[in-house]
Amino acid sequence: MARKSFPTGSTPSDDVMAAIADLAKGDPDPDANRLALYAMYPGDEVHAMATRAWHAYSHPNALVGRLIPSLFRMEQEVVEMGLDLLQAPEGAAGVLISGGSDSLFQALYTARETGRIERAIDHPNIVVSRTAHASLEKSAHYLGIEVRRVHEREDRRADVEATKGLIDGNTVLLFGSAPHYPMGQFDPIPELAALAQERGLLMHVDACVGGFLAPFMRENGEPIPPFDFAVPGVTSMSADLHKYGYTAKGASLILYRDAALAERQRFTCDAWPYGAYSVKTFAGSRPAGPVASAWAVLHHLGRDGYREIARRTVAARCRMMAGIAAIPDLYCHPEKPDLSIFLICSGSLDMFRVADEVAKRGFIVFRAGEPRSIHMLGDPRPDDLVDRFLGVLAEAAAEVRAGRKKDMGGGAVYA
Ligand SMILES: Cc1ncc(COP(=O)(O)O)c(C=O)c1O
Repeated sequence: MARKSFPTGSTPSDDVMAAIADLAKGDPDPDANRLALYAMYPGDEVHAMATRAWHAYSHPNALVGRLIPSLFRMEQEVVEMGLDLLQAPEGAAGVLISGGSDSLFQALYTARETGRIERAIDHPNIVVSRTAHASLEKSAHYLGIEVRRVHEREDRRADVEATKGLIDGNTVLLFGSAPHYPMGQFDPIPELAALAQERGLLMHVDACVGGFLAPFMRENGEPIPPFDFAVPGVTSMSADLHKYGYTAKGASLILYRDAALAERQRFTCDAWPYGAYSVKTFAGSRPAGPVASAWAVLHHLGRDGYREIARRTVAARCRMMAGIAAIPDLYCHPEKPDLSIFLICSGSLDMFRVADEVAKRGFIVFRAGEPRSIHMLGDPRPDDLVDRFLGVLAEAAAEVRAGRKKDMGGGAVYA
């Protein structure tokens, strides 16, 4: 395809918008694909609130938020609301940041700097379960940190005994997920945090997925494992606003039990002619829209609204799992998810082929490799959407089953 050339003349704004609408005609149907496109759809009203607030601050630069009192206050208050929700003690602090990967990057940077400053460590390592999010590996690569991955236990949670065995004098951080992405289980945070405390290490909890859902599920009476700052020894947490906080994309929190630790995230430099440069984020110029969107949605929903969304999320997950159990050859793993993530598996059908058949019928789904399965990330989807998906999934499974029989000369052998 020829490279697009820079436009010569100007185009009226209505025409530009019409051109965008035209481009979007080729996109997947958002209604069907709210199921799987990380769209995190809480309903039209909340969605509209997030968008309106974003628009109102689409131009200011959050880099200079301290010069814009409304923006400064909103950013500070979003952090404080996150600290409150995740039971941080007095003296805790945090930073609003662009997303989960960014938040994990900062947690690692802070740990590396702490190891360097307090223990003169110049070859730092971290010990993490194999199920930790891949972006952690990316950050460690950027930061020159060795990642020691431990095989998870059979129940897919971090193996604390094995973790112990890999800690040495250069370890700067232990890490647990609440929950992890591949299979959706919570790691045993209290045990990991106790181990970190015993060895004088920092302990980070990746609650990018759980941070804005698990507290409300717990308030609704669901059995959520301990995972936040109420657990002694947890020194920092990541919690994504743009996932189950239902705010516009580009918003997460990195939170620290202790403000002095949060300060380690700051980078300062005066090695240029301009003067002092001092920021707590990797980004320089930052969008203000996600800040305003987060502040607006947290207020719009409040605890009551989030609890209602959490209730609907669990109801949708249960309806979905019951429907899957009724489809021949399919089952869900784990049988009882800790939160919202589970896998659709099969002992006899190739689930990647089932996923292809589902996609042919208009629903995009994501695949997990171990075991080969369809990865589900729940949200408060309406019953009719769940039922439509179940119908398509049943058809897709039947198609793959029939093809398999044909491949085998019509025999009903499912070896
Ligand atoms: C557990 C976990 N941590 C971190 C991330 C990275 O988040 P982001 O995509 O916002 O960078 C994800 C993303 O799915 C995640 O599931």
